[in-house]
Amino acid sequence: MSPVGNVEMFRLTRQVRFSVNPFGPDSKEGANSFASVPSGEGLCLFLALTIGVTGPLDPDTGFVVNVMEIDRQARDHTVPLLAEYIRRRFRDGRAVSLSDLAALLHEARGVLEGRLATARVGCLYLALNPYRTLAIWPEDTTVMLFSEKFEFAATHTLWNSRFSPEENAEMFGKCANPTGHGHNYVLEVKVRCPVAREDWRIARFQQIVEEAFLSRVDHRNLNLDVPQFAEAIPSVENLAVMAWRCLQGRLAPAVLEEVAIWETDKTCCVYRPETAHSGTPDNAS
Ligand code: NI
Repeated sequence: MSPVGNVEMFRLTRQVRFSVNPFGPDSKEGANSFASVPSGEGLCLFLALTIGVTGPLDPDTGFVVNVMEIDRQARDHTVPLLAEYIRRRFRDGRAVSLSDLAALLHEARGVLEGRLATARVGCLYLALNPYRTLAIWPEDTTVMLFSEKFEFAATHTLWNSRFSPEENAEMFGKCANPTGHGHNYVLEVKVRCPVAREDWRIARFQQIVEEAFLSRVDHRNLNLDVPQFAEAIPSVENLAVMAWRCLQGRLAPAVLEEVAIWETDKTCCVYRPETAHSGTPDNAS
């Protein structure tokens, strides 16, 4: 939260999960918003829209906005907008690009703005699948934020050669085992991409991440096989720095925004140097 004048401002996010059935009659029926409302029947397109709102607290409720109201407005106005667009494109046999989706999300944001009491609608995040998200924010309609997760497996030993064996054992515990231990890592790469660049391709992005970073660490012994860790300790923090350095400047016309690496589902490091541009939308992943 941050103070504006004497008023504390809060940022709240709410995810609305829904299904679009482009193949047959649409339905608004459903009762399990944890999974999907509309429920969808058979094969449907599942989407999850996260809505970010900013505002002061209502002293009577303790809410920025009642999340039930966010749900109601989103389901009455935003979900039908997205569903009708998708169904129309499907009917016309026309693909929906990321640029199309970004424009649609801006339209959806405009529809919500003013419907949620005094709160301001900020970023919208559309999860296209469990590993891929597209985001827009009101301050800049010319760029979108795209993020995708990747996996890799590696072995490492956390060991500082300037420490004694006892000091290493004390500092790194089981992670100092000289013969190593492994992790199944998850890497998330976030990029800013110009909305106008219809030629930006997800497949090409994936290929660059594979070639520039994953191929150097996947199924490797980080201490022995990766030159970056000849001296540096292969902590998740240093892995995130390596990922940034390997990817920065290679994703044009997109610009690297942030990298995150999960070493386990309990340990994650997010890295973006101080010199990187700021003004990033909120992180809802
Ligand atoms: Ni480890």
